[in-house]
Amino acid sequence: MSDSPAPTPPVDQWVADAAAQPAVVTTVAELREAVAAIRRTDASIGLVPTMGALHRGHLSLVERSRQRCDATVVTIFVNPTQFAPGEDLERYPRPLERDLQLLAEAGVDLVFVPSTEEIYPEGCTTTVNPPQVARLLEGESRPPHFAGVATVVLKLFNMIDADVAFFGQKDYQQTLVVRHMVADLNVPIEIEICPIVRDEDGLALSSRNHYLSAAEREAALSLNRTLRKAEQAIREGENDGRALAASMTQSLIEGGVTELEYAVVADAGTLQSLETIRLPAVLLVAARVGSTRLIDNILVR
Ligand code: PAJ
Repeated sequence: MSDSPAPTPPVDQWVADAAAQPAVVTTVAELREAVAAIRRTDASIGLVPTMGALHRGHLSLVERSRQRCDATVVTIFVNPTQFAPGEDLERYPRPLERDLQLLAEAGVDLVFVPSTEEIYPEGCTTTVNPPQVARLLEGESRPPHFAGVATVVLKLFNMIDADVAFFGQKDYQQTLVVRHMVADLNVPIEIEICPIVRDEDGLALSSRNHYLSAAEREAALSLNRTLRKAEQAIREGENDGRALAASMTQSLIEGGVTELEYAVVADAGTLQSLETIRLPAVLLVAARVGSTRLIDNILVR
């Protein structure tokens, strides 16, 4: 076996070959051509949208796509419209070479890495008004966030004729927004939600974990610890949603988070806070640790 990497295939030809390097395209025209070449072979297509700075969480979506679909397309685009002014858009990590290496090792077929101008050319002003469920929680903390997410995700769905798109439960509210948008706007794609991948200490993997100092990481662990305690309380019969949310709040503050944004016990479908806990429920937290904003959740069925 030779050590030299397999050559990048031309975008207008596609053959199923796990050892081949993924084709990397930067324009919508090249992307459409490459996707059409895959379609000509009757292969099914899985799509994994990301903002890069890839970790095992992202790679678990790729793995799932490779199990279910013949070809896997990954997009890497740090979408400016989902960042509120003052958020970390500029300092968001962009380790592109490393990301491409990981995607090659993961057996991805096609990677789309567009510029901002390619996605939002001058004069592009149409946006998606996200569904009701976008207004709560993250929507209150970060008002333009889900309009930006819904718009870019719909654009990606329209650019890439995929059968299934894979999203992580890590961004629980995002999964509801995408599912509602797809249903409401009759988008012909299946959405599959994949479980949260965590570090051994329980911290949910996130590209933003890179920002944490050792002491901050310690405080960050209180998110998952709090959620697990609350889940346990429900399993043991706690049914007072307000009391449980209050004890989650206390646990996070004692755990050393810098600023708590929300800690709620909510209906798993609507995200309305529950006074009396009914299953399926979702426990959701968002907090700043130092200047880093972290989220986590546990679904209780
Ligand atoms: P990003 O934060 O890069 O996440 C890309 C996908 O990976 C999302 O579906 C997210 O839920 C999933 N993911 C992140 N961390 C995970 C973890 N620890 N375990 C499992 N899955 C995880 O989410 C976005 O990008 C953007 O909003 C995007 C959908 C790409 C639109 O711009």
